Formats: sequence, structure tokens, C-alpha cells
Amino acid sequence: MNILITGATGTVGKHLISHLEQRGTGQRVFYAVRKPALARDQLPGRTWQIRQFDFEDELSYRPALQQINKIFLLRPPKLTDVKRQIVPLLEEAKRSQIEHIVFLSIQGVNANTWTPHFKIEQAIKEAGLPYTFLRPGFFFQNLHQEMGADIRQRDEIFVPAQARVFNFVDAAEVAEVAALALTTEGHLNQSYTLTGTSPIDYYRVAAALSDALDRGIRYANPSIPYFLFRKLAQGKPLPFALVQTVLYRYTRIPEQERFKHTLQRLLQRPPTGLQAYLEQNRELFEPKPPLGQNKGTD
Ligand SMILES: NC(=O)c1ccc[n+]([C@@H]2O[C@H](COP(=O)([O-])OP(=O)(O)OC[C@H]3O[C@@H](n4cnc5c(N)ncnc54)[C@H](OP(=O)(O)O)[C@@H]3O)[C@@H](O)[C@H]2O)c1
Repeated sequence: MNILITGATGTVGKHLISHLEQRGTGQRVFYAVRKPALARDQLPGRTWQIRQFDFEDELSYRPALQQINKIFLLRPPKLTDVKRQIVPLLEEAKRSQIEHIVFLSIQGVNANTWTPHFKIEQAIKEAGLPYTFLRPGFFFQNLHQEMGADIRQRDEIFVPAQARVFNFVDAAEVAEVAALALTTEGHLNQSYTLTGTSPIDYYRVAAALSDALDRGIRYANPSIPYFLFRKLAQGKPLPFALVQTVLYRYTRIPEQERFKHTLQRLLQRPPTGLQAYLEQNRELFEPKPPLGQNKGTD
């Protein structure tokens, strides 16, 4: 059994690789990466496991899919043109007789038909490819990745979410479910909403961070213009800032999607909660001096 992992160098991909290694069920795992030379230093395993692949280069699809049985598919956050950047890959997957695609989607996808994830789920079904859709809530990892600089340097969470509530989940546990779906029976044509917390707003997330870090973290709750202004001033591209705004302010999660125990059922243990995650990862939130201020004096 040969499995191809897209996004192998990303948050979920890296965890997926280590879960597949731990399971060691005899499958051969290949990494589909844009820049093999760079990926060699980042990924475990051997050179033969790395295949050059770029969603934006159709010529890379066929060689990457050679002798592959299953695919872990994600949509890189910067890609929005599903018709041009994802559908041709699905057509190639069909021609290559791929037996199973595990796709990293989002929670509440059916209520958010404007998202690329909705369009990709539809395209996978229309292609007749056997699938498993993973639909996670927001990753805990966002707190130290995209929100991390504001928390470390300003002691604040800076997202335009008002008092809206979100489910969070550990991306490592999402990856664990992906590994299960790829290596055990019973997951074909299933959709899993994956959440690790009950719905909470960012005021409560800030309070949990303050407890875990022993310093006050506030939720700034910026207006949309202030959020956009600051992200652009920080050098973020406008499309990125706009997508973030839409995600935090306008994504709709139906009530019945907010209280799911699917993750616990699949993992056969309670998922990691917010407080436990923060306590295990305290060092990722420690204040860091701004660049250029930690060089010492002569
Ligand atoms: N963050 C959340 O809270 C959350 C929640 C639910 C769902 N999701 C979904 O999860 C997905 C992102 O997963 P992630 O966080 O694991 O990814 P990530 O950490 O953002 O990494 C993106 C991966 O995609 C690769 N990539 C980028 N452009 C590529 C291209 N043109 N061709 C081939 N590979 C390319 C990157 O490789 P390089 O090393 O080459 O850059 C990297 O491995 C998104 O679709 C997002 O909507 C996220």
C-alpha cells in the first residue's frame, strides 16, 4: 500500500508522518513537496520517499501519483482557485485509479458553500473517488502560529471575532485520525467533524492563556478596519488579511456541528483540551525580544 501525503511539511502533514511511522502497518509513505531539496532537511526518512509536486504545476501530477494507492489531500491556505489548482489533480487521481482520498476540510463546510473546501468536497464526490472528509474546528496551533506574535509581544489576541464562539482541536489529533483513516477499515465515504473543545469565545481563550502562562493576556476584539490596518502594517498581504477576517467574522457553524464527540470515538480517549494544550506548550508563548534587540552590547 503506497500513500502520498500532500502538505507534508505543514502543521498536519508533519504529525501525520509521525503517526504513520508509529503505526508501522507496512505501508510505504511518499511526500509530495514543492521543493525536494529543502524538504529533505525537514522530513524524516529517505530520499526515495520525496516526490516533486506542485498544485500549480499540472505536469507534476502524474509522476507524483505513480503507483500510489491513497492520498492525504489538503488545500494549501494560499490556493483559492479550485477549478484550476485542485480539480485537474482529482481528474488525474481518477485516471490513476486512486482507491481513497482523505481530505482535510473544515468544520461546518456544508453551511459555508463559498469556501474552497466545500467545492473540493463536491469535486471529489463528483469524480467518484472514495473519500474520507476530515472537518476539524480551529487548530490550537493557530494560537502560537498566526496569532503568536501578538500574544508573545503584546500580550493580546488580535482577531476580529467579536464574541463569536469556536470549537478548537489539536492538529496532531486531526493527523492521528487521518492516519487511522488511511490505515484501518471502515472510513470510506465518511465525514468526520473533529472538535476537541466545547464552543468558546476569545475572551475565554484569553483567560485560559492568562492562567496557563501566569501573565495577563487580553482579547483585543478589534474592529475589521483596525484589524486590516494592523495586518497590512505588519506586512501581511491584503488577500490573507481579508480571508482571516471572513474566517473569524463570517464562518457559520450550525448548532448541531458544535457538540460532536466524533474525535473521542475515533481516538478512543478524550481529546486534548485547551488548558492541557496550553500547559504542554507554554514555551511557545513566551515573550521574545523584537528582532535586533537581543544582540547584547559591546
Ligand atoms: N488552521 C486551522 O485552524 C484549520 C482548521 C481547519 C482546517 N484547516 C485547513 O487545513 C489546511 C492547512 O493545513 P496545515 O495547517 O497543515 O497546512 P500549513 O501548515 O499551512 O502548510 C501548508 C502546506 O502546503 C504546502 N504547499 C503550499 N503551496 C503548495 C503548492 N503550490 N503545491 C504543493 N504544496 C504546497 C506547503 O509546503 P511548502 O513547504 O512547500 O510551503 C505546506 O506543506 C487548509 O486547507 C486549512 O483551511 C485549518
